[in-house]
Amino acid sequence: MDEFRFIDRSDSNAEKYTLRQKLFHTQEVQPLWVADMDIATPECVIHAVQKRLLHPILGYEIMSDSAYEAQIEWVREHHGFTIQREWLSYSPSVVASIGCAIRAFSEEGDEVIVMDPVYPPFYGMVRDNNRSLLLHPLKQDNTGIYRFNIERLRTQITPKTKLLLLCSPHNPIGRVWSRDELLALGELCLEHGIVIISDEIHSDIVFAPHAHIPIASLSLELLNNTVTLIGPGKTFNMAGFSISTVCIASDELRALYEKEAHRVHFGDGAALSHVAFETAYTEGGGWHKKLLAHLNANAQLIETWVAEHPVIQCRIPEATYLAWLDCRALGLSDRELREFFVQKAGLGLSPGLSFGKEGSGFMRLNFAVSSSVLMDALDQLDKALND
Ligand SMILES: Cc1ncc(COP(=O)(O)O)c(C=O)c1O
Repeated sequence: MDEFRFIDRSDSNAEKYTLRQKLFHTQEVQPLWVADMDIATPECVIHAVQKRLLHPILGYEIMSDSAYEAQIEWVREHHGFTIQREWLSYSPSVVASIGCAIRAFSEEGDEVIVMDPVYPPFYGMVRDNNRSLLLHPLKQDNTGIYRFNIERLRTQITPKTKLLLLCSPHNPIGRVWSRDELLALGELCLEHGIVIISDEIHSDIVFAPHAHIPIASLSLELLNNTVTLIGPGKTFNMAGFSISTVCIASDELRALYEKEAHRVHFGDGAALSHVAFETAYTEGGGWHKKLLAHLNANAQLIETWVAEHPVIQCRIPEATYLAWLDCRALGLSDRELREFFVQKAGLGLSPGLSFGKEGSGFMRLNFAVSSSVLMDALDQLDKALND
């Protein structure tokens, strides 16, 4: 039976610790930034990898059909989306796939729609591939829910707009886009011949009653106009295996994408990652349920804390283990805010501004830690505020 365990990672090579000095100029912060978890990868995955190591050769291997089928079954069961085997290909990284897709479906100088705030590599992939950012601001409505504005977006589109980079669910704001929102966005893209790249890496960390809807599952037209990026990295805390998939139903788009993937020689992945991937999707279901229950309980702790500290606002995320803290009422500049968290509260969070202009005045807190670590962090913040 899969145990659910919290691990002290301070003596491992975990990025959240090793980059502390560089990012926060001190080791004396509780790191709650990079989006991975302090929760052990499911034991079934570790055991399967250990078993594979009994065979002493780790040469080149092909990702097997049974591994792809395991993911297909997971997506069908959890998101009601039926993927065909030939639509899928291996990728070592969702971000790398975004880069490939940008090159495959647009030319230098073309525009790519990116919603601000968003996961920082979205900006980097567009700029580094010499495309232009078409920034669309996400704004909170009067209930605090972030929304895009479809009419405004319509006016922003030009003949050079070729791609939409969608984050679904959305990091850092924790939105699960509704069917109506996705349909509106999808129809706009179809009208203007804009290909959708949908990063759905967070699609398994969704809290009821919200439910993730793959945009490609909404209609045949959208299926044929979308590149969906999915993987077990967030779901099972196994980003270190560098394995994800790219799902493209359209033969035409898939051929263009594959040409780019060959140019950078994505290959077919690593033996241990294949085993981890297949095992996670076939045997990790029970662990995943426990994970969601734990994350939900931590989200409640944050909700209670925020209710007692109105100077910091936070709408509990519909998805992701990332809390988007609205600290604007503190009246600090972004630099002061960052210093306050590091120096006064001893907390290493992701500054909102790193997610784009709309993130000014916010901080992103990763709550995929034990409840005691989270409570200590909130106590530290409480003390810093009282000082
Ligand atoms: C939205 C989003 N996409 C992609 C990634 C990273 O994916 P990969 O490690 O497969 O490149 C992250 C990691 O935080 C993310 O939040």
